[in-house]
Amino acid sequence: MEHSFWHSKWQKNEIGFHEPEGNALLVKYASVLLDTDDLNTTQKRIFVPLCGKTRDIGWLLSQGVEVVAAELSEVAVIQLFEELGAEPTVTSTANGKVYEKGGLTIYVGDIFKLTPKDVGVVTGVYDRAALVALPGPLREQYAAHLTDITKRAPQLIISFEYNQNEMAGPPFSVNEDTVDSLYSENYHIQRLERSVLEGKLKGKVDADNLVFHLIAK
Ligand SMILES: C[S@@+](CC[C@H](N)C(=O)[O-])C[C@H]1O[C@@H](n2cnc3c(N)ncnc32)[C@H](O)[C@@H]1O
Repeated sequence: MEHSFWHSKWQKNEIGFHEPEGNALLVKYASVLLDTDDLNTTQKRIFVPLCGKTRDIGWLLSQGVEVVAAELSEVAVIQLFEELGAEPTVTSTANGKVYEKGGLTIYVGDIFKLTPKDVGVVTGVYDRAALVALPGPLREQYAAHLTDITKRAPQLIISFEYNQNEMAGPPFSVNEDTVDSLYSENYHIQRLERSVLEGKLKGKVDADNLVFHLIAK
């Protein structure tokens, strides 16, 4: 999608993807990212790509986790900090602004401009409605870039599968075969859940929730 598509969604507050209560599947499966023995660090630090103003960031912070995130829309990031009740420090860089407060750092701008150095060491990646937000060719670029900037950190991915003929994305349908073709070169992939999406996608289309855990090969 063009950047203007997303900027317009945020300007018009057309953010049906946003979950005011956060995502229950994160709470259910976060342990795969958080209850791990990392040799070099006990402090967990999770990367949240295409974060919007997700409430899941607040939940991760409440678990003692540090979060680094990327989001195109400054409108979203401003609202995210307002809803957290946190006053960020804002720094301008060549690639855009960086909003920071305590254990939370958000890069405002195109995720494809982020480098491994920007992201730093992360112990996991939480992808909810990021992979599914991108059309096919961009999705391939995204998967390769995410693998690179996070140095193959483990991932928890929450996606949707539905009949793409019934609705144009985003969100796009991303099934197990697609996740496999994008990530199996670098990761072992385990599907943790397939369940019916209650209330349907956009209230119209039957869909399944899919949850994947990726660990570097
Ligand atoms: C479907 S929303 C999901 C937001 C969030 N993950 C959630 O669960 O609520 C996708 C988000 O990705 C952002 N986005 C789209 N393309 C991007 C890019 N190239 N770089 C950074 N963010 C992007 C959009 O502005 C939008 O907020």
